[in-house]
Amino acid sequence: MAYKVLVSDPLSQEGIDILQAHADVNVDVKTGLKPEELMEIIGQYDGLVIRSGTQVTAEVLARADKLKVVGRAGVGVDNVDIPAATQRGVIVMNTPGGNTISTAEHSWALLISLARNVPQAAQSMREGRWDRKKYTGTELFGKTLGVIGLGRVGREVGRRAQAFGMKVMGYDPFIADDMLKKLGFEGATVEEIFKAADFITVHTPKTEETSHLIDDRAFAMMKKGVRVINCARGGIIDEDALLRALESGKCGGAALDVYEQEPPDPKHPLLSREDCVCTPHLGASTEEAQTNVALDIARNVLDVLTGGEVRNAVNIPSVSPEVRAALSPYLELAEKLGMFAIQYFNKPLSKLEVAYSGGLAEYETAYLSLAVLKGALSAMMNETVNFVNAPILAEQRQIQVVESKAARSESYSSLITVKMSSDGSSAEVSGTTYETGEARIVQVDGYHIEAKPYGTILFFQNVDKPGAIGQLCTVLGSANINIADMTLGRQKPGGYAVTVCNVDCDVPKAILEQLKATNAVRDIKVINLEQR
Ligand code: NAD
Ligand code: MLT
Repeated sequence: MAYKVLVSDPLSQEGIDILQAHADVNVDVKTGLKPEELMEIIGQYDGLVIRSGTQVTAEVLARADKLKVVGRAGVGVDNVDIPAATQRGVIVMNTPGGNTISTAEHSWALLISLARNVPQAAQSMREGRWDRKKYTGTELFGKTLGVIGLGRVGREVGRRAQAFGMKVMGYDPFIADDMLKKLGFEGATVEEIFKAADFITVHTPKTEETSHLIDDRAFAMMKKGVRVINCARGGIIDEDALLRALESGKCGGAALDVYEQEPPDPKHPLLSREDCVCTPHLGASTEEAQTNVALDIARNVLDVLTGGEVRNAVNIPSVSPEVRAALSPYLELAEKLGMFAIQYFNKPLSKLEVAYSGGLAEYETAYLSLAVLKGALSAMMNETVNFVNAPILAEQRQIQVVESKAARSESYSSLITVKMSSDGSSAEVSGTTYETGEARIVQVDGYHIEAKPYGTILFFQNVDKPGAIGQLCTVLGSANINIADMTLGRQKPGGYAVTVCNVDCDVPKAILEQLKATNAVRDIKVINLEQR
């Protein structure tokens, strides 16, 4: 199968080479497209590789009929409408880490420029001046640096502060205090940083909470002469408030690599100020970082298109390589259990419970529960269902998904039990994977069986009497329907039993009627476990 990938922002050649080298991939590099030009062509592509320039809006996604993956060569995915991509089942992935060091180093380039007026002084000499007094700076030694956001970049910025003999305060609501200490930060609230720091640098994503995190109120709390740096996302520092703080002298200098609007209006008042050092979003602009992110995104996009591992997706749960290895023997089983259970239940679904017992229960199993949900939904609806949009489709259908765990499993080393319920009725199906890697459905509503989860399955509830199974086989045989595998189960002798047959072809309605007409059958369900 051939896949088409569009690279719509400048990407290092190494990444393009990797994409082009794949026999099944055709790559088009078309940068600088206008939104309407992108909308016109996006329908042809299975993959889209971008940096920060391309705006992947809901309108673009609505035209992206074949699109499976948007790969962002970089960290920030604020130029992608993630909810719209998720709704359409498009994986959005980024390349965390590839540009961390470059961005941390650029943050320091900005911070030191602010402390010692390097860009302004260099410009003054270009203009023929010799202004030694005007460009007197400040030492970093002994000063306090406040780092807001202690992820990959924030931590690297903090580490480097120690070399300058600075005191480093850090704030990140998602990082525990003992971890902060281990990383060399003095843990603080954001207000404590505002009040105490001589330099403040922000390294958070732009979210509702961090948008205008540094505003008039924040500047009012800060020391006179404080210097602020934004090498994260435009708008974390409110540009209007910054201008007021610089004009009043409350802020002694600012360095910006990112802007509320990019590129900013050339007449933007901050750009021409001597006390504001501005760079055009250069944080990740080093050869090393651009090579790293291009290689990472090319490999990861190829893997998604060719059915390999999904790495660094921002809209599906991330799974560590160790957990992935432990879960992988159960992944297909989980999806098949979801498909089997919904067709067996055969009613509108309001609650899906997935219980793990035995060894599996020790792992983070969210990804398996997602596979169960994907299986169930794909058997229920015609829309494309995948790991990306399954949760949102479930939410829209008000299906509650619950996961539970028990350390012990009576008879199996690991067991997955799927329970579906609505309006007082329920159905329960369990499955396991043996050490050989073979998966089996081992329990359906209390009947113990050993069914192979593949293809078309006829699930009979029949009388437990001699000759009953013979009658079923005779009907199937005379219709030339081959039984490939068969398993039986019963709760007690002489009651009802179940017979589960994997058959080699579809079963016409007329044959189902004939089977129902035998006095052996109480109920028949046709269950299709082919991947949709
Ligand atoms: P990251 O995800 O590793 O770290 C972000 C950190 O911010 C996380 O630890 C998170 O817990 C924290 N955070 C979230 N909300 C917060 C809040 N309200 N207050 C304080 N902390 C909060 O990301 P990263 O790779 O370190 O990148 C950091 C920022 O830098 C991102 O916005 C990214 O887009 C940007 N970036 C810019 C450039 C550039 O060229 N200028 C390059 C790379 C990254
Ligand atoms: C990022 O989020 O990775 C940066 O903004 C860098 C970039 O877009 O090149």
